[in-house]
Amino acid sequence: MARIPDAFIDELLARSDIVEVVGTRVPLKRQGKEYAARCPFHDERSASFTVSPTKQFYHCFGCGAHGTAISFLMNYDRLEFLDAVEELASRAGMDVPRTAPARSAQQQDDSRDQYSALDAASRFFQKHLEGNAKALAYLDGRGVDADTRIRFSIGYAPDGFSALKDALGKDERRMKLLDRVGLFSKNDRGHVYDKFRDRVMFPIFDRRGRVIAFGGRVLQKDDGPKYLNSPETALFHKGRELYGLWQVRQANQKIERLIVVEGYMDVVSLFQFGVTQAVATLGTATTPDHAELLFRNAPDVYFCFDGDAAGRRAAWRALESVLPRMKDGRQAFFLFLPDGEDPDSIVRKEGADGFDTRLAQATPLSQFFFDELGGEVNLATLDGKARLAERARPMLAQIPDGAFGDLMKQELQRLTGVGRLAGPAAGPGHRPRAAAVPVQKRSLVRAAIALLLQQPSLALQLEGHHAIAGLRLPGIELLLELLELVRQRPDIATGTLLQHFDGREEQAALHRLAAVALPGDEASWTQELHDAIVQLEKQLLQQRLDELQAKQRQQGLDETDKYELRELLRARAAMR
Ligand code: UTP
Ligand code: MN
Repeated sequence: MARIPDAFIDELLARSDIVEVVGTRVPLKRQGKEYAARCPFHDERSASFTVSPTKQFYHCFGCGAHGTAISFLMNYDRLEFLDAVEELASRAGMDVPRTAPARSAQQQDDSRDQYSALDAASRFFQKHLEGNAKALAYLDGRGVDADTRIRFSIGYAPDGFSALKDALGKDERRMKLLDRVGLFSKNDRGHVYDKFRDRVMFPIFDRRGRVIAFGGRVLQKDDGPKYLNSPETALFHKGRELYGLWQVRQANQKIERLIVVEGYMDVVSLFQFGVTQAVATLGTATTPDHAELLFRNAPDVYFCFDGDAAGRRAAWRALESVLPRMKDGRQAFFLFLPDGEDPDSIVRKEGADGFDTRLAQATPLSQFFFDELGGEVNLATLDGKARLAERARPMLAQIPDGAFGDLMKQELQRLTGVGRLAGPAAGPGHRPRAAAVPVQKRSLVRAAIALLLQQPSLALQLEGHHAIAGLRLPGIELLLELLELVRQRPDIATGTLLQHFDGREEQAALHRLAAVALPGDEASWTQELHDAIVQLEKQLLQQRLDELQAKQRQQGLDETDKYELRELLRARAAMR
């Protein structure tokens, strides 16, 4: 994927106004320096969603949603990053830079040709379905109606070894394209033939409705593997695609929930019976990329599995993939089906209502988590409790900061009685989130970061060069990085600054710090930041002194060390 230079993103955000971007989609009310609204990302009565024109970001104190104009478009309009950038750029009258234009233009042509080869193949398969009594009889037998066949562009790959090759591989170039998109196989002697033969074909669409791959099902048992999928290609990475997502997006204005099932036929049948929010992973476990894609499209995700041991294992893998994505406002549920059933068979027997009833009774992630882990230990014993705590903790640590993570940790504590977990989360009641904590009570590094996020330009008022690099304190690297970013772009707004941390683990914590309205004004913040940096400089000095003195005790100092030690002692005296 084309990479867009950070400088362009900064410029784009500088030229866009988040109040305008959000305001055209959500009614905003002015409230002091900021704007408020009912949060568009979760249901609420009061307005805890705020948009700050000075910080150029939005933040919801209810569900924790936050970000810049770009992330707002991604989440609200459900755009991919590049599309959100394009959208903003076109409003701002800017052209998105293409890295290495010559090469990427060629690449673009190339992938355009690949898409059209896949599209031609899909139309070829659809055409052959219409003429093939056997395949039509198969689909009739499975109760797939004509509307559904069209909606999913279901087709049929003819028998024989070269139907597709003869029809579409008219010249060298086209042969190459069909090969590149995964439609051919090759035997030992290098002979190329159709990969999909005598199979019902399910095209897989990407998020923009383009065919990128296929799944093909045999008509009769014993005709090789039941399903054959396209191999991984430049356009198709199965760990990142969900079968049916395109159709779900076509069918729903707003997607309240997504249901993840295992098979093509499950998605197709659910749709036909009116459950139009089902998607399938493509013969793989749920990956973290899937989890992100799912939650970017819907706040509630239901994972549907067989009730057997294999189904529970697959569910656990899905849980592992979603845990790090469980920001507040998102919910995951697990639905286990009776032996021998799948969503296809259930919805045919029980209809959409029956399926919905089952969904309503699905197990919440929290319960599945503790049931599974707790099921392996004896909670009546101390050993069992300790083991549960030991297993649960590293997993719970992956949940992004927020109420959900706090509640999960409390539940672990309730079950095991094991230790107050770090942080103030241990108490029962609700702790007011993001309330203004006095700066002095935080660590120095954290305080300095909070101040910079409050108003990045404060960094410009720091005199000269701050000698804090090399200080061994948590967060010091981050602080230096922020200072450097502001130095490079003196007029950077908070939101833009945060954008630089997109996809990094520090991002959530930075956003929460940024959302706090610190008491005081520019003058007092400047002073506080200055004081914090001076304190840190003293600590670095002391750190180096300690090192040299330790060396003195262990191995003695050479001349350079002695000189440095004298200078350090003198500097410390001057600072007092
Ligand atoms: P299932 O065997 O549960 O298929 O595989 P299903 O969807 O119920 O199939 P029908 O109802 O018999 O047609 C579930 C999914 O696992 C993948 C496919 O994505 C399938 O939809 N799979 C299965 C394969 O990739 N290859 C196989 O040989 C079997
Ligand atoms: Mn099935």
